[in-house]
Amino acid sequence: MKVIKAKNYEEMSKLAANIIGAQVTINPKSVLGLATGSSPIGTYKYIIEDYNAGFLDFSKITTVNLDEYCGLDGENDQSYRYFMNNYLFNHVNIDKANTYVPNGVAKDLDIECERYENFINDLGGIDLQLLGIGHNGHIGFNEPDDIFPNIVHSSELAASTIEANSRLFNNIEDVPTVALSMGIGTIMRAKKIILVAAADKAEAIEKAVNGPVTPQVPASILQLHKDVTIIACEN
Ligand code: GLP
Repeated sequence: MKVIKAKNYEEMSKLAANIIGAQVTINPKSVLGLATGSSPIGTYKYIIEDYNAGFLDFSKITTVNLDEYCGLDGENDQSYRYFMNNYLFNHVNIDKANTYVPNGVAKDLDIECERYENFINDLGGIDLQLLGIGHNGHIGFNEPDDIFPNIVHSSELAASTIEANSRLFNNIEDVPTVALSMGIGTIMRAKKIILVAAADKAEAIEKAVNGPVTPQVPASILQLHKDVTIIACEN
């Protein structure tokens, strides 16, 4: 596990964008696992800058997102599909048909989970997965639990996650309480992982990096992955 300390959010974002840009350059047909939240917004901003400067080509890239709220369709401006279009896909030459987010309004959520997991496997897995982290150590929507969920699954959000994410909604009652998420196994099978964490996540990062590997701190499992880079902000 490599831990890089960035001076601030901008430096963290640039470092993460450099790694993703390198992946796209080395393998223009990469499968990128992508994340939402405030943490990766800066990363996407710098990726778009590099694209506009002519350094990156996304025409053959495929993306799979970590998670999606249940009950929100892609037109809803709180959905993670909307977020991805808004912060990245609308600004680079990616074919939207090659961008995938779990379907949070699927009729049968169990079938959707199985479909999404199989789909990722059929793609040959994820070459590079970008992650954020919750204050409680969650990755994707894998909340603290007694076990590490293996595959894509529906997850009940922890009260603290609903509270944290309510900042983006008009009312806390509007925050979906269930989401579809890649499992811990889905994430751990990615060939490379990078995790970006702003300064307010210092405690979660400390537990994930130096604490015991436990499903109560889902990100702690990253200690067992052979190619993880954590970029954490000092300020
Ligand atoms: C959300 C997402 C996670 C994200 C986390 C932190 O609940 N499901 O993928 O990493 O919260 O978000 P933020 O970066 O906005 O703090």
